Amino acid sequence: MTAFRTLDQADVKGKRVLVRVDLNVPMENGRVTDATRIERVLPTIQEIAEKGGKVILLAHFGRPKGRDPKESLKPVAEAVQSHLGRPVAFADDCIGDAAARAVAVLKDGDVLLLENTRFHAGEEKNDPAFVEALAKLGDIYVNDAFSAAHRAHASTEGLARALPSYAGRTMQAELEALTKGLEAPKRPVVAIVGGAKVSTKIDLLENLVKKVDALVIGGGMANTFVHATGLGVGKSLAEKDLAATALRIIEQARESNCAIILPVDGVCAYEFKAGAENHTYGIDAIPEDQMILDVGSQSVERVCAAINDAATLVWNGPLGAFEIAPFDQGTVAAARHAAERTKAGKLLSVAGGGDTVAALNHAGVSESFTYVSTAGGAFLEWLEGKSLPGVEALKA
Ligand code: 3PG
Ligand code: MG
Repeated sequence: MTAFRTLDQADVKGKRVLVRVDLNVPMENGRVTDATRIERVLPTIQEIAEKGGKVILLAHFGRPKGRDPKESLKPVAEAVQSHLGRPVAFADDCIGDAAARAVAVLKDGDVLLLENTRFHAGEEKNDPAFVEALAKLGDIYVNDAFSAAHRAHASTEGLARALPSYAGRTMQAELEALTKGLEAPKRPVVAIVGGAKVSTKIDLLENLVKKVDALVIGGGMANTFVHATGLGVGKSLAEKDLAATALRIIEQARESNCAIILPVDGVCAYEFKAGAENHTYGIDAIPEDQMILDVGSQSVERVCAAINDAATLVWNGPLGAFEIAPFDQGTVAAARHAAERTKAGKLLSVAGGGDTVAALNHAGVSESFTYVSTAGGAFLEWLEGKSLPGVEALKA
C-alpha cells in the first residue's frame, strides 16, 4: 500500500488531528447493540492520542434530513469512551462556535467527538464551504472509515483534499486485505456470492466473473440462475424477469474461463419459518409447492471442494436463509470449512457485507477468517470494481 500515506508518515504531536471514523453502529433504545465498528477504530485513536495528537473524531449517523435529536452521536460518544478507556468529550455541532470551543480546550492526547456531520446538508453535497468549516478545526486529516469511503462527502473526500491526509490503521488493514483478496491475489481465487437478489448484484457478478477462477452462487439469487437454465424452482424466491441477465453472466463467465458453481440440491420447505418441516431434493426435482431455503449437502460438498482448490476466497452473502434454523446449515458448514483452511495456512479469506458478517458471527468463525470487513455498501462497490472516492482522495 505504498500509494497511501499512513500514520507512519504523520507527525501528530501537538497537532489537531481530524479523524474520520465510521460510528454508524446499530442502536436500540439509546444503546449500541453491536460495537464492532467502535472496536475497529480504537487502535488509530489510541495511537494518535499516545503520540500526543489532539484527536477530533468526525462521523455520520443514520441518514437524517437536517438536525434530528434521534440521530445524535451523543450516546455513541459514551460508548466510544467506555471501549477506549479514556474520556471522550462531545460537541453539539461539527462546525462553528460549539466545535471551535471544544477543540480549543483540547490538550495533547485528548479525544473529542463532534456531532453527526449529516446534520449539515453540506456534508453529503461535499460543499466546499462546509469542507472549509471542517478543515479550520484541524491541522491534518486521517481517514479510518473504509465503510464510508464509497461516499464522496465532505468528511470522507473533501477534507482529504483540503488537509494533509493519511490512512488510519483500520483503513490501511482493509486496503491491504482487499488488495490481497482481488487486486493482486494468489490464485486460484474463488468467490462465494449469496443473498436474496440478483438485481442488486449484477455489476458485482459481472466484475467477479472477469477476475476470479470460480464463482459459487448461492442464496435466493441462485434460484434465478437455476430458473434461467430451464429448471423449475417451485415457490422459491426468484427474479424470473432476470433470466436473460443470468444467462448473460453465465456466458461472460465462460468467455473469462470462470467456473460457475450453482447448487445441485436444495433444502425445501412449504413455508419460510424457523423449524419448518423440510426435505432435500435434487435441483432438477424441486417440488412445485415448496421453496428452496438452503443449499443441500451435495452442494455444500462442491463448495468445500472449490474452497480446497483455491488459494484465495472472497465471500459476500449467505448461501441460504441463515437467519432461520435449520436453513443456516449450508452457510455454517461452508464458513467453518473456509475457517479451517484459513487456520491451516492454506487459504487467504476475505469476507464483507452486512449479512455476511452476521452469518460468519453466527457460524462462530469471524475470528478465523483472514479479514472480515464491517463495510456494507463500500465492500459491494469494491467487489463491483468501482473506485471509492474516499480512498482515491487519500492517494493524491
Ligand atoms: C454504512 O453503514 O454502511 C456506512 O456507514 C455508510 O452509511 P450510508 O450508507 O448511510 O452512507
Ligand atoms: Mg449502508
